[in-house]
Amino acid sequence: MRVTINCAMSADGKIALTTRRQTRISNDDDRKRVHKLRNSSDAILVGVETVLSDDPKLTVNPKYVDKARHPVRIVLDSYGRTPKSALVLNGESKTLIVTNESTKKTFPNADVVRSGKKEVDLHELMKILEKKGIEKLLVEGGSRVIWSFLESGLADEVVIFVGSMVIGGDQSPTPAGGAGALDEKHIVALTLKSARALGNGVLLRYEVVK
Ligand SMILES: NC(=O)c1ccc[n+]([C@@H]2O[C@H](COP(=O)([O-])OP(=O)(O)OC[C@H]3O[C@@H](n4cnc5c(N)ncnc54)[C@H](OP(=O)(O)O)[C@@H]3O)[C@@H](O)[C@H]2O)c1
Repeated sequence: MRVTINCAMSADGKIALTTRRQTRISNDDDRKRVHKLRNSSDAILVGVETVLSDDPKLTVNPKYVDKARHPVRIVLDSYGRTPKSALVLNGESKTLIVTNESTKKTFPNADVVRSGKKEVDLHELMKILEKKGIEKLLVEGGSRVIWSFLESGLADEVVIFVGSMVIGGDQSPTPAGGAGALDEKHIVALTLKSARALGNGVLLRYEVVK
């Protein structure tokens, strides 16, 4: 399984407003790139807080690609908090809601996978997804989920679009939240593969050092 993390941050390293509400950080060139990246992935994964705050569709907009595939949409949602009205449940493409083992909820237009005692066990989930034929996984956020993938050693590549704006705020989420590194040995080392201007922003590509 190849795991790519993609996110957009402001020049001061924030991925949403201080209220955690989504704001447009990508430009048109980046949006096109993200839809192509989604289209080349087998699945697109987010955490439930991103569903609750942004209500993303996680589909491929056909205007950006020659032929739209339909990557599976995956939500890490230990306690089944995804609202039935969420756009990821609109039936436009397959959706997997991943809860923990004791949550018994079901959702319209979605299959449920159960893994982990409290939060989702990512190592176990990767094995389940591989059995379902998912070889390329795109992790789109948010902050806690990105840290979990980095911390667990499961992420292979990090792609960050840096938008030309400052959001500020002590509480605004950054690309990687969660507990973070408590000491140097938990810092995740990256190798810079490329840095290039994209419209009025910058696109950074890193490989995770394993
Ligand atoms: N700019 C961008 O590119 C971008 C992209 C996406 C999101 N965002 C922003 O990111 C923010 C949301 O990020 P967030 O950190 O609050 O939440 P998040 O990462 O979207 O979701 C985190 C939640 O996922 C669930 N989860 C289940 N298993 C997990 C695991 N193994 N590791 C981590 N989480 C797990 C947990 O909730 P349960 O305990 O209930 O399961 C956890 O609280 C929003 O402000 C959104 O706008 C920005």
